[in-house]
Amino acid sequence: MSPGESTAEARAVRGRAMHNVILTAAIAGLGGLLFGYDTGVIASALLFIEPDFGLSSFGSGLVVAAVPIGAVVGAAFAGRLSDRYGRRILIIGSAIVFIVGALGSAFSEGEALLVISRVVVGIAIGLASATAPVYISEVSPPAVRGRLVTFFQLAVTVGIVVAYGVGLAFEPSEGWRWMLGLGAVPAIFLLVGMMRMPQSPRWLVMAGRGYEAKAVLMHIREDDPSLIDAELDEIADSIVEEPGGWRDLLHPVIRAALAVGVGLAILQQVSGINTVIYFAPTIVGYTGVDSASAAILASVAVGVVNVGMTLVAIRLLDRAGRRPLLLWGSALMAVALSILAFVFILGAGSTTGSIVAVGSLMLYVGAFAVSLGPIFWLLNSEIYPLRVRSKAAAVGTMTNWFFNFLVSLTFLLLIDALGRSGAFFFYAAICVVTFFFCLRLVPETKGKHLEDIQAIFERRAGGAGPPGGGHPDGVTPEPDFSR
Ligand code: BGC
Repeated sequence: MSPGESTAEARAVRGRAMHNVILTAAIAGLGGLLFGYDTGVIASALLFIEPDFGLSSFGSGLVVAAVPIGAVVGAAFAGRLSDRYGRRILIIGSAIVFIVGALGSAFSEGEALLVISRVVVGIAIGLASATAPVYISEVSPPAVRGRLVTFFQLAVTVGIVVAYGVGLAFEPSEGWRWMLGLGAVPAIFLLVGMMRMPQSPRWLVMAGRGYEAKAVLMHIREDDPSLIDAELDEIADSIVEEPGGWRDLLHPVIRAALAVGVGLAILQQVSGINTVIYFAPTIVGYTGVDSASAAILASVAVGVVNVGMTLVAIRLLDRAGRRPLLLWGSALMAVALSILAFVFILGAGSTTGSIVAVGSLMLYVGAFAVSLGPIFWLLNSEIYPLRVRSKAAAVGTMTNWFFNFLVSLTFLLLIDALGRSGAFFFYAAICVVTFFFCLRLVPETKGKHLEDIQAIFERRAGGAGPPGGGHPDGVTPEPDFSR
């Protein structure tokens, strides 16, 4: 074979390997659709459930809150279950639970059944959101991991827009049962797709099934066997016999990583994103736009900006790195919210005021979508050592859902207490805190092997050894799978 032919052959192999890994990430990323769809659909569905079931405001609150509460519970169980049965099985399980919950909601005959079904939906979302990003990061080559884990966030944002569309389509017929039941469709895709996907090679090594791990890596990477052997050695070095327990999360190295993961989980929510996602029409209404359809249109535009800028994030994450995006993103979010708050003080009611306010909402959502949106989920899947990864990621996910719930519950109360401008200045101040948090605490993980990221936190913990023994903090050469 001539050198030209062998280069062409090598390129074709890399192309196939890339295709395999992208497909795997895209299917697992569908886990995000469940999450996004429910986030986006409930506001429209609730408009019709309230009169049908004669819900009190407490009852409506319960129907909405059932999902984040269920998600906290689902995420709490995700860590242990995904260590025991594997990431893939758990994602399949979450799709089945979601289908049951979505159909249960669609056919429920009364408030109690509806709330129970929505808790079931929440459990599925908690399981999927704790497990899918970890699975994707464990099958991805380091050079493109950022891009691929962001498929999860992309699916969240697409789910939100699809749900707005479904909400609009079924509004004339007041078809709330259709709105909730159709959530089962992406779950069926996830179920069927994941059944054809491989196990996480890292989980297989941890479960003592190294030979199968090698077969999976050979299949998804189609790479030089010596590189695959090196990757397997590295994975094996980073773990000790058994998955760690909850108490291992107190080890100084894990605590250092959890400070970043849990901190970002809280800041991602407390900087107010879901006030915009859930209440966009209300906020646009505050700016003086008094037609309901214009307000709804503005929320659709917010959803589209969210998807578009997540696509930009996919292109940027593995080039610019995580830190610059987080810093620029949180700074721009603070600026955008401050402009919005000033509009409420100065010009709410005028056309210019409304335009500036809607523009600042777009800037805020766009800045979130290239920074905190995807990067929290990405870091939460990549900064913990394998031995405790699924449990630590579950703690980050639980925290995120709990604060999601808290912020949605308190948004209108905050407006009552601080006024519209006061409330948005408050969220702007949190974005400033986020900026400094990222500046001081978030490490750059771009292009690093998952096993090498552990070394960063070992150094932070004052040179404490890895939890439970394991590999020395050497940095291994990085194979480049991206070309
Ligand atoms: C957040 C969600 C939010 C979504 C908006 C996600 O990263 O965790 O709470 O609704 O982004 O795109």
